[in-house]
Amino acid sequence: MNKEKQGVLSLTESDSKGESRTLTASPAFIADRALDDSVYARATRDRLGYWEEQAAQLHWFKKWDRVLDWNPPWVRWFDGGKLNASYNCLDRHLEGERSTKPAVIFEAENGDSRTLTYEQLHGEVCKAANLLKSLGVTKGDRVVIFMPMIVETVISMLACARIGAVHCVVFGGFSAEALRERIEDVEAKLVMTTDDGQRRGKIINMKGIAEEALSAGCESVERVIVVRRQPDKEPLGETSNQGRDVDYHEAMKEMSTNCPAEVMDAEDMLFVLYTSGTTGKPKGVVHTTGGYMTGVATTHKGVFDLKENDIYWCTADVGWITGHSYIVYGPLANGATVLLYEGAPDYPAKDRYWEIIAKHKVSILYTAPTAIRTFKKWGLSYLEKHDLSSLRVLGTVGEPINPEVWLWYYKFVGGERCPICDTWWQTETGMIMLSPLAGLSEMKPGSCSAPIPGVKVSVLSRSGEVMEWGHNGYLTVSEPWPAMMRTIYGNDNRYVKSYWSHWPGIYFTGDGARRDKDGFFWIIGRVDDVINVSGHRFSAMEVENALLEHPAVAEAACVGKTHEVKGQALVIFVTLRDKNAPKDEVISDLRQFLVGRIGAFARPDEVYVTNDLPKTRSGKIIRRLLKDIAEGRAMGDTTTMESSHVLKELYKG
Ligand code: PRX
Repeated sequence: MNKEKQGVLSLTESDSKGESRTLTASPAFIADRALDDSVYARATRDRLGYWEEQAAQLHWFKKWDRVLDWNPPWVRWFDGGKLNASYNCLDRHLEGERSTKPAVIFEAENGDSRTLTYEQLHGEVCKAANLLKSLGVTKGDRVVIFMPMIVETVISMLACARIGAVHCVVFGGFSAEALRERIEDVEAKLVMTTDDGQRRGKIINMKGIAEEALSAGCESVERVIVVRRQPDKEPLGETSNQGRDVDYHEAMKEMSTNCPAEVMDAEDMLFVLYTSGTTGKPKGVVHTTGGYMTGVATTHKGVFDLKENDIYWCTADVGWITGHSYIVYGPLANGATVLLYEGAPDYPAKDRYWEIIAKHKVSILYTAPTAIRTFKKWGLSYLEKHDLSSLRVLGTVGEPINPEVWLWYYKFVGGERCPICDTWWQTETGMIMLSPLAGLSEMKPGSCSAPIPGVKVSVLSRSGEVMEWGHNGYLTVSEPWPAMMRTIYGNDNRYVKSYWSHWPGIYFTGDGARRDKDGFFWIIGRVDDVINVSGHRFSAMEVENALLEHPAVAEAACVGKTHEVKGQALVIFVTLRDKNAPKDEVISDLRQFLVGRIGAFARPDEVYVTNDLPKTRSGKIIRRLLKDIAEGRAMGDTTTMESSHVLKELYKG
């Protein structure tokens, strides 16, 4: 192996957990990298000074008065500073060569592509911002965006940011009921949607789902903007709600490409994004402007070693935090070229990703372990057909990645020349918190390495002591960071209770982790009742509450089970009101019911019907025992159980 080109894998000491394998980037990569080791020392020496330097890379209408105001858990970063997120993503790139540089390359499932330069994107965003204004949307109003992975979704987000409206993107795979719940919680004034989305050659009627949500409540919504997928065809038909619905393409024709960006306070809300917690109700995570933009721009550039000519592709959906931070705000603030793909990895064939990489000469690929595990399973023949030599850096996010999958990604996708950034972070953290910096840090397959410069995390015991290396504990963040969430929309108490009530002034992530003797962090997974299926977060209680709405169900419990490809799969246990009900029918009905209630991605892998569920003496369902059953393990400790015989009769569908 040519070490110069291929990178260096050194097995220092054998270890059953694979914790001793370290890897460094090739000398050529290292020589070309923008940052050097001193960045860690710089940030440690003066953390706040470091973040000020990073913030100064953005465009501020007025500089901040104070870098940090920390009154745990309430925080203000760059207080007194004035800026606009959309201005930072667009206007400041308009002078010089970047104005004609592709900002977004859209690739449709059918192979059509469309490129918008920074200048063109700026024009479209200004028009959309003027459209929102013309419909009465003003600073602070909430706009729900229920759209697929198309350019107009990015335009809509930036248009909101431009006028100071707060966007709330709802992932396009959610059901009408989930959409309604979010529209109502955030009290949206306007909803943006499309007539349809496309996946695996099928049309998904998004307007229909939105219509169903709107007809079930959503009193706050005054107007609905509909983006048509085929703008050359007929404008919105008469079936639409006249007076409420607006045809995006028709209306945009009238709009000016001039729309000054609203001057926003650093702490003004930029967006709300819902995620699952441990209770049944999703949490509206609030992110503000100055700290968030500083955090995502810094990490996007620093972690992936972004270069001016990179073609950067993040495969996440724009409806999740990864899409917000690393498709839209981080990359565009850095003037990057972003690839946006609407479609599945296996349509029309299983080499779709590799075809796209070769076609657009993608140089940075940021994807999820579930996808990589799927590609590994499909086999090498799909990769081998395509030229992947444009790739320089690889990233992963959303779930722990197993060392052998990491090595497969490194070897076969990255050709042993691309550093891998296993990035650990959350909707709540807004930005990457732990990750190697490409080419700078050593890597260990399966570990997300260490905190990025300027971030302080610790693994704590229940009583708050720092765990010694090698011992599992709770992953916490011990100092505030710029892109941290500010609260849960409309529910400060829940914010304090969920994240800050365990150890004073310390943020609890909900994850378990351990540090090894070299200081590398290993994520164990959630320690609460949050289930992570293919990187999608579910609260066990959210699924259970949904099931309880089904007339046949008396009691319900939901657990996650280890899954070879998805990381975890949903397994549900129910007892029925009518013990004689036809079980197969009920089971298939329940699967469908969950799809309708939450979304297609909530379809359970396994459904068990039982006569009773294991409970503590106080009547609480013991999910731990159900998890043992789902995993096929011997049942754990049953001493606190009311009736340990209950699970003897299980009917599985
Ligand atoms: O459990 C961790 C897991 O995903 C959770 C956050 O989910 P969400 O807010 O949906 O954001 C996902 C994308 C940022 C975390 O609490 N997680 C995320 N990244 C990793 C991870 N687990 C292990 N390794 C990672 N790199």
